[in-house]
Amino acid sequence: MNIILMGAPGAGKGTQSARISEKYQIPAIATGDILRGAMKAGTELGKAAKSYVDAGQLVPDSVVIGIIKEYLATDNCKNGFILDGFPRSIPQAEALDEMGVQIDVVLSIEVADEKIIERMSGRRVCSCGASYHVVYIPPKKEDVCDKCGAALYVRADDAAETVKNRLDTFHAQTEPLKEYYSKKGILVTVEGQEEVADTTALVFKALAPFEAQA
Ligand code: AP5
Repeated sequence: MNIILMGAPGAGKGTQSARISEKYQIPAIATGDILRGAMKAGTELGKAAKSYVDAGQLVPDSVVIGIIKEYLATDNCKNGFILDGFPRSIPQAEALDEMGVQIDVVLSIEVADEKIIERMSGRRVCSCGASYHVVYIPPKKEDVCDKCGAALYVRADDAAETVKNRLDTFHAQTEPLKEYYSKKGILVTVEGQEEVADTTALVFKALAPFEAQA
């Protein structure tokens, strides 16, 4: 199954894509993780992306489209994939269409802005990719990753002012994609719940009809 996962920053895309990936045994391609990895490694891609990510703005379309093209061409994606955080603008969606990539379902996780702000302020992440929330998904030991034992940290772009910019960017540039995919008849929406497991149950239920078609 080829899935696009969309939603506001902090809606729970990364959290749910890990669970979808496990259930369907398909890889999740998260453009945000790829860009942060490149920034940490100091590559040309990372240098090009840094000022945009730090400001809560979208990295130029040509940069992320290039990344996605490369990933989708690998054997890993043969049996399906989850695009977490791509496309994020109409030109990105059009580029995906031009690549001839068939998408079975676009799942949008809906969460109100006030809730997003609360979630982002409590997020703690690990360099191994694991993500926690100090209240909703706390690690067993405070500020230590359950999976690898490394120290957890706050993502630089989770600062309050940057979160506000990311939300503005989402509403202006990414939300119009809902209409784009609704017109194609492949958009499904799920209300993000207080409990991660409750959202996962809704996500699996929403994906089930597309499993048969894929
Ligand atoms: P990216 O890393 O994709 O950030 P984002 O979309 O803003 O999403 P997040 O990763 O912040 O949140 P999420 O929805 O995955 O939520 P999570 O599961 O962590 O992108 C970062 C930047 O890269 C962008 O700003 C942009 O600059 C650039 N970029 C990326 N893709 C791009 C593209 N295509 N084009 C151009 N630029 C691009 O959950 C959030 C928190 O809530 C966690 O603490 C989690 O534990 C908690 N939580 C999750 N679910 C629940 C729940 N149900 N109840 C309670 N808490 C929950």
